[in-house]
Amino acid sequence: MARLSSGYLIPEIGLGVYLANGNEAYQAVLTALKHGYRHIDTASFYRNEAEVGRAIHDSGLPREDVFITTKVWNSDQGYENTLAACESSLNKLGTTFIDLYLIHAPVPETRKETYRALEKLVEERKVRSIGISNYNIHHIEELKTYAKIMPAVNQIELSPYLQRRSLVQYCQDNGIVLEAYSPLTRGEKLNDPPLVRIAQQHGKTTAQVLIKWCLKKGYVTLPKSVNESRIIQNFTVNDFDLSAEDMNVLDGLECGLMVAWNPLEWE
Ligand SMILES: NC(=O)c1ccc[n+]([C@@H]2O[C@H](COP(=O)([O-])OP(=O)(O)OC[C@H]3O[C@@H](n4cnc5c(N)ncnc54)[C@H](OP(=O)(O)O)[C@@H]3O)[C@@H](O)[C@H]2O)c1
Repeated sequence: MARLSSGYLIPEIGLGVYLANGNEAYQAVLTALKHGYRHIDTASFYRNEAEVGRAIHDSGLPREDVFITTKVWNSDQGYENTLAACESSLNKLGTTFIDLYLIHAPVPETRKETYRALEKLVEERKVRSIGISNYNIHHIEELKTYAKIMPAVNQIELSPYLQRRSLVQYCQDNGIVLEAYSPLTRGEKLNDPPLVRIAQQHGKTTAQVLIKWCLKKGYVTLPKSVNESRIIQNFTVNDFDLSAEDMNVLDGLECGLMVAWNPLEWE
């Protein structure tokens, strides 16, 4: 578990459910919770909040035991719109509170009012921790001029192939926990020879090495899978360690590979 600036704890591995349709997301969340996951990363944009909520309910786990993240989508931003979007997410998830509510991306015209709404939602106890996603340094510098509560996390794409070192350092200096999305490079680099060599040395898969790299960097990581054996595999990373030399090799793989999108360049 990592400690957020809000005081709450967050499990370091969360199941991502982007591109999992309703039924797939329902099954994936049930499966993940059965195998020990306690953190699910969804968004209104993913259109599976209702199924995620139903799976958490059907798992029989107490609500307090599962950490739920969801996000306000770009076209729902603005003060009143964000309050309404959160209400809609709460209804779909079937819960009275969201553990972590994020601004999905820094829309220039609306991000300030959106952040004000997030702070209001904390005051109303509908949301425990608030954060941002796809924010670059200049977006956070601006946010600092008006935020009453600093964001607990910044969720960005991170892997050995995209390390964003200055942004990472900046977030760490400001007490903002980093969440690594697309940590498996959506599969693109899973056969990369240097990564394969490290995985073979440890008798693990390349996906497990990528997840371990995130954890050793201190990032919360959000691998997505809808397949039971891969869901289990991605969570089974406590039985090996990466050496300083392994980490050096992995750190040397930086090549600016981006597999998702890049709102970090937005004005
Ligand atoms: N905030 C944002 O803007 C943003 C953007 C992108 C992603 N995210 C979040 O981050 C999560 C993860 O990112 P992502 O979905 O883009 O990509 P990812 O987790 O890097 O990769 C997912 C892909 O890898 C496959 N996979 C999973 N485990 C595997 C394994 N052990 N071996 C081989 N293949 C494996 C999955 O297929 P199967 O499902 O068939 O296993 C899927 O095709 C998302 O679901 C979402 O929650 C956030």
